[in-house]
Amino acid sequence: MSGAERHAELLALIAQHNEAYFVHDAPLIPDADYDALVRELRALEESDPSLRSLLTQSVGAPVSTVFSPVTHAQPMLSLDNVFDDDELRAWADRVAKGLPEAALAFSVEPKIDGLALSISYQLGHFRQAATRGDGRVGEDVTDNVRTMASVPAAISALGRFEIRGEVYLAKADFAQLNERQRHAGEKEFANPRNAAAGSLRQKDPTVSASRPLSFLAYQLVDLDGELELTTHRDTLAQLRAWGFVTAPETQSVAGLDGMVEASHWFATHRHDLPYDVDGVVIKLEDLASRTQLGSTSRAPRWAIARKFPPEEQVTRLLAIEVSIGRTGRATPYAVLEPVLVAGSRVAMATLHNEDQVRLKDVRPGDLVIVRKAGDVIPEIVAAVPSHEARQDPWSFPTVCPTCGAPLVRVEAESDTYCVNAACPAQQLQKIVHFASRTALDIEGLGEQRVAQLLESGLVHDVADLFSLRVEDVEALEGFASLSARNLVEAIEAVKTVPLHRFLIGFGIRHVGPVAARELARAFGTYDALAAADEAALAAVEGIGPVIAESAAAFLRDPEQVQRAQTLRTHGVVLEEVVATSTEAPTLLGRAVVVTGSVPGYSRDEAAAAIAARGGTSPGSVSAKTYCVVVGEAPGANKVTKARDVGVPLISAESFEELLATGAWSATLE
Ligand code: IVH
Repeated sequence: MSGAERHAELLALIAQHNEAYFVHDAPLIPDADYDALVRELRALEESDPSLRSLLTQSVGAPVSTVFSPVTHAQPMLSLDNVFDDDELRAWADRVAKGLPEAALAFSVEPKIDGLALSISYQLGHFRQAATRGDGRVGEDVTDNVRTMASVPAAISALGRFEIRGEVYLAKADFAQLNERQRHAGEKEFANPRNAAAGSLRQKDPTVSASRPLSFLAYQLVDLDGELELTTHRDTLAQLRAWGFVTAPETQSVAGLDGMVEASHWFATHRHDLPYDVDGVVIKLEDLASRTQLGSTSRAPRWAIARKFPPEEQVTRLLAIEVSIGRTGRATPYAVLEPVLVAGSRVAMATLHNEDQVRLKDVRPGDLVIVRKAGDVIPEIVAAVPSHEARQDPWSFPTVCPTCGAPLVRVEAESDTYCVNAACPAQQLQKIVHFASRTALDIEGLGEQRVAQLLESGLVHDVADLFSLRVEDVEALEGFASLSARNLVEAIEAVKTVPLHRFLIGFGIRHVGPVAARELARAFGTYDALAAADEAALAAVEGIGPVIAESAAAFLRDPEQVQRAQTLRTHGVVLEEVVATSTEAPTLLGRAVVVTGSVPGYSRDEAAAAIAARGGTSPGSVSAKTYCVVVGEAPGANKVTKARDVGVPLISAESFEELLATGAWSATLE
């Protein structure tokens, strides 16, 4: 394709996306993809000026016919974008040219993902509000904006002003709005921006009024030159004095280093902010210097948007499958053509439940928008509308993909369950949960290893973990002898953890971490807990009838009685506060690693002797380790690691001294 052909194609594409985004509030592609198209267009036009289009010289949206047009007293410009530190430096260098060093202070603000709004005031009163539109002419949304709590009805100045800022929906308000939509059987919004746009551009102001829209101000156009403001900081202070809200996270910085540091701060904290942001806006503080730099027809030269890596991408939905959790819940998930989203590779995304799949109407074969925000599990936002023939709507499988038992949807709930308690997928997830950080936190025991242990027949239940021997684990494929030993040691180490962590690990229905702690604290031991009846359980502070009933049923279950028995025979303690010791706490809070055998002590006895004196005996050495006791046939790795991080090595002969005094008189070289 020639440059001119690609140019024509890009113009048509961008026009189509502009209409979808600005007129219908229903974008067809993620913002980052749109930005990429515009950048490509610009690059083409720069290499061949004869291609110059109006599009790259102007700002976004065609004006809709539903709202009356409003001509802005001063055009509402857009912003140029940069995507990394180098591009930011190039911009900062351009700005610095011709300005004195002292003028190089900048404001760094969140770039809120909403819609630009201009509100005009005259004789101290709110007069009119308009969207940006094409930058010159916007749409009259006065009646809708009048109902917004964060827009003052009056200000204490008489001249003509235009206050500009962003209309948005806070994340919490967005979640609530969608919840309401769901209850009312209405379509949910894909993201806060679409919801804000849809809410602002309502023909009926009472509908707008029922939507929790917010306004954040960032610009003041003083048409009569009434105010004497010299910096952006002054402007924001003036806006606040009039009752507007400005972004509290705004930072004032000096030079390039300051900009880079502040924008990294925002990138790190973007998910902690109450609203969606897609970058930061960096603006020159000094207003006189802004005038000196001026603007292009599209954007000011004194400000720049630094965009964050996109959190949404388009990819192909290859298939929809279901996974079985530890309670038997069947969760549908999307198998995707792998894409890079927000810096990580995404090949799967959750679809939550049957209703969500139906509501989003995503089907295998569709192009879909995938979103990954922060640490959350990636999800599918929506399917990209297409004219191509689609596959039939997906339907929930009727049998469990792992064990073939029926999948049953609980009436009046949106969840579907595999009814077979012995389903291997459930067993796997139960053990994975038991070993996970929230429960026993067994180092090195993730899903893959659990699957191996189950497959080999070494383990059927969590209780079997405690009878694993190094030689059995070593025989499994992919287990080096060191990792087998580490795993067995890690399991050994959790035998004495407080009872509540076991209660969490057992995955008792309705018993979460808080209830587990309350129960363990109230009864002290598993035996006392198991002997309590439902009424006694319900009498515990914080334990309601639902939890009490579920816990009582669990504790009475013969399988659980048997399991507790097995755990105990393997040396698991199952007490909240492990037996108070008569020994002096010479090792209180200290981690003592024992490697090799210490004469007169079995491995367990050595660990118990340390625990009785308030210490712990972890399976590996770190800089926090108090000392390493080197017995017969020690592990080379532990010794090397101790030397590397400067942890003292002491001989087995000094073990008694260590227990008695918490110190040693000789170290090994
Ligand atoms: S300043 C002439 N500041 O980003 C200066 N814009 O991509 C114009 N936006 O149209 C805008 N947060 O809708 C500015 N703190 C902020 C912003 C911000 C979000 C939006 C605004 C603008 C668009 C440009």
